[in-house]
Amino acid sequence: MTEVTPAVSESREGPVAVLTLQSGPVNALSAALREGIRAAVERAEADQAVKAIVLIGGGRMFSAGADITEFGKPPRGIVLPDLLNRIEGARKPVIAAIHGNALGGGLETALACHYRVAVPSAKLGLPEVKLGLLPGAGGTQRLPRIVGPRKALEVIVGGAPIGAKQAAAMGLVDEIAPEDSLRAHAVAFAERVVAEGRPLTRIRDREDRLAEGRDDPGLFDAFRRENARRLRGFEAPEACIACVQAACTLPFDQGLAFEREQFLKLVSGSQSAAQRYVFFAERQTARIPDVPEDTPTRPIAKVGVIGAGTMGGGISMNFLNAGIPVTIVETKREALDRGLGIIRSNYETTARKGRLRPEDVETRMGLLTDTLELEALKGCDLIIEAVFEDMGIKKDIFSRLDRIAKPGAILASNTSYLDIDEIASVTSRPGDVIGMHFFSPANVMRLLEVVRGARTERDVIATAMQIGRTIGKIPVLVGVCHGFVGNRMLAERQREANRLILEGVKPWDVDRVIYEFGLPMGPFAMSDLAGLDIGWSRETNKSESVRDLLCERDRRGQKTGAGFYDYDAKRNAMPSAVTEEIIATVAERQGVRRKAASDQEILERCLYPMVNEGAKILDEGKAIRASDIDIVWINGYGWPVYRGGPMYWADSIGLPKVLERLRAYEAEYGDAFKPSPLLERLAAEGKGFKDL
Ligand code: 3HC
Repeated sequence: MTEVTPAVSESREGPVAVLTLQSGPVNALSAALREGIRAAVERAEADQAVKAIVLIGGGRMFSAGADITEFGKPPRGIVLPDLLNRIEGARKPVIAAIHGNALGGGLETALACHYRVAVPSAKLGLPEVKLGLLPGAGGTQRLPRIVGPRKALEVIVGGAPIGAKQAAAMGLVDEIAPEDSLRAHAVAFAERVVAEGRPLTRIRDREDRLAEGRDDPGLFDAFRRENARRLRGFEAPEACIACVQAACTLPFDQGLAFEREQFLKLVSGSQSAAQRYVFFAERQTARIPDVPEDTPTRPIAKVGVIGAGTMGGGISMNFLNAGIPVTIVETKREALDRGLGIIRSNYETTARKGRLRPEDVETRMGLLTDTLELEALKGCDLIIEAVFEDMGIKKDIFSRLDRIAKPGAILASNTSYLDIDEIASVTSRPGDVIGMHFFSPANVMRLLEVVRGARTERDVIATAMQIGRTIGKIPVLVGVCHGFVGNRMLAERQREANRLILEGVKPWDVDRVIYEFGLPMGPFAMSDLAGLDIGWSRETNKSESVRDLLCERDRRGQKTGAGFYDYDAKRNAMPSAVTEEIIATVAERQGVRRKAASDQEILERCLYPMVNEGAKILDEGKAIRASDIDIVWINGYGWPVYRGGPMYWADSIGLPKVLERLRAYEAEYGDAFKPSPLLERLAAEGKGFKDL
């Protein structure tokens, strides 16, 4: 092999030049790799002996696309669109040989080649939209020319990769190669192209598939309408749609120019910056300073779940989905049967929607053992307690588990607030005790707060983080404190939201402001959904808060048809005069001064105390880094990813500004707004949370 550049190596197979991309773990198309490809392609083109060129990825994959770390920096070397035009314009056939991933610019590179072969396990996709971008190297113009605009919209705006076989069915891949002989197969394919004198098929010249968009221009608006809810607030999807539309109306080169212009706008905008930050922040969560990556983990082959309620059932499903057997324990047969019924009906609904094969429903249910005996958990490697939020009950369970569980079993609690150290204290093995806080619905929400106790062993932490990833979660390590990271910050927002309504701001106005900011719902809609009677009972009711009075009138949220809102039969929320009257009563009783608040004030008073609490959490070492807090809020509470999480958002506003507002509110409302020393220090030093 002759090294052309460090990033691309070239070898010969008869008349075929095989160019292997070898740049880091994912073949990101950095300046070095782009220049390497250009030089290698030009050499091969100039060499009389070469009749065809194969582009193949070395290592794990073809290419994960543009090098995300280059965005926002001055451009170096040939830009990707120019490189791809160069490849497409080559006078000898270029064949892309794809394994692993061909994503973003990686797939665009393959689209600029004249033919594509792929192994069955390869994944192809244009995930740029998830980074707040669009495929900016011809993807929006070439893909619709090969799969048609309708499918192109799904791939580009959806951002999810597709398998090679599906890609072949769409015409995106010309041939499927055997899993273990891609290189040889691609070379043989190239030789056939040469021998048969097959044409250089340039996607840019294809027009036929665009007819779909030309004949039915309404398909773009229909797509916008169908996806409006999912795409709310995001800028990139609309730009993607506009580009695919342009592919149908403009000549290829003008379409490319339009795509470029849109790409440059997005890449320099705040949403993409936030989404790129989140991409790296998510990967950071795995790094724990005193638990290095090579920390040994404990094998988890069998899981026990205590409690078959909503949480226990959802938690169990995660493991069943990953093929890990679960033993689920309840105290009463009825509760157990109800829980199992819900798990089964969840699977059946998914199967009806075509997202699960019917036989898989039985396979998954077959991995589930139900029992009324805690003893049955003695063979489990990981036991997760998901019972009622009561310290007494939890302690009782953990002391029994201490007697039952095998040595080395991990004993986890799904508590959302309680002190893991206190729970661990009743066992003889506090090193094996940890918190695994799932978010409801536990089989859907991606966040997992892994709560580290004072004595939790490092291998227990490493195992909990790893098993979290195995079941498709994003685990974030947090420390013991009331509500951990997510709920502790949420409590700040809730308190201010409650104060605002007593001052006379309508609950639906608070919700509207939070919703317009980009969260899926505001605090009062969320309370109605969760149920207002969590932790409330008629016997202990003090009739003090708006919530108490709503519950007394049987307004317990969506499930009773009324809560803060009135609900119609379709669960549409409507403002309620009864709620207004209750709020007025409580406000009068408590002597709250009524005053108006602007939308900006509502937003600041709800969200700045959260940021402030986040700063305290960091100061206390309850989260490793600010970006971990952001990942908690994005994946556990639906914080809009295009605003990068609360801490990133505060940085983007500027901490001096946040501090100034906190001080102003502190003067009016007291300690609830008292700025954290960390926030004060960072603001004084002209720094942000990102600098910690
Ligand atoms: N640019 C720079 N670095 C990248 C990268 C990229 N496109 N993709 C991955 N990396 C880095 C990761 O940050 C990570 O770095 P680290 O080891 O220092 O943390 C390392 O490569 C390995 O990545 P993962 O840990 O994510 O590896 P996985 O095997 O779990 O996943 C993957 C592989 C599915 C390819 C995943 O990395 C991924 O989704 N990458 C991003 C794909 C993407 O969004 N591509 C579009 C880029 S934008 C573009 O192409 C614009 C163009 O249209 C002009």
